[in-house]
Amino acid sequence: MRIVLLGAPGSGKGTQAKRLMADKQIPHISTGDMLREAIAAGTRYGLQAKSVMGSGNLVPDDVVLGIISERLGNPDAADGFILDGFPRNMRQALDLSELLDQLGTPLDTAVLLDVDFDILMKRLTGRRTCSLTGKLLNIYYSPQEDLDECTNAGGELIQREDDNEETIANRLEVYRENTEPLIDYYSSQGKLTTVNAEGTIDEIYERLLAALD
Ligand code: AP5
Ligand code: MG
Repeated sequence: MRIVLLGAPGSGKGTQAKRLMADKQIPHISTGDMLREAIAAGTRYGLQAKSVMGSGNLVPDDVVLGIISERLGNPDAADGFILDGFPRNMRQALDLSELLDQLGTPLDTAVLLDVDFDILMKRLTGRRTCSLTGKLLNIYYSPQEDLDECTNAGGELIQREDDNEETIANRLEVYRENTEPLIDYYSSQGKLTTVNAEGTIDEIYERLLAALD
């Protein structure tokens, strides 16, 4: 299973990819997560990415392509992968196609997690990550016991730096301009599957599994 998860910021790419990874035993490859790790580790990539991510713009293609080609070359990606947040513009999509051709492992499907834009702001401003477990939570939507489980164990509910209203507005604009055209690109290749990504996390996961069947 070699899939790309397409969808606006807050559409649930990370949430659904983590479940799919656990069920299908294939790696979840998120360029956003890898860039945040690079920032935390203070690497060269991280330094290049930090201010761009803070504004909600796209990190230069060369940086992201370098990260992705290294990661897809890892042996654990040979049997499949879930790409989350990559590709994000036409250049990245064309380069991904070329890279996968070279590896002899073409993409199976691009799944669009389709959500009305009005819902996204609340999902994003409410998002928190547990500092102990890395679990993705939401102060508006997660069950209170899940939030308490983190804090009672001594963890903190951390908010992402780009999850403020101003940066979110720019991220949504950047998505519309750069990433939405990929919907037509994958559709014209007969590789697009659209999943209604409104509803509970469990409902959406069931739809995703059905779409991948
Ligand atoms: P990235 O980390 O990829 O962020 P994003 O695309 O903005 O997407 P998010 O991670 O915000 O949303 P998500 O769809 O994963 O939603 P989640 O599951 O967390 O990129 C960040 C930055 O890195 C970019 O702005 C850019 O600068 C840079 N970057 C990354 N990749 C790049 C690339 N390829 N090229 C150039 N630059 C790149 O869910 C969100 C919240 O909603 C959570 O709290 C969750 O609990 C909640 N939630 C999820 N589903 C539901 C539901 N069904 N009901 C209620 N709540 C829900
Ligand atoms: Mg994400």
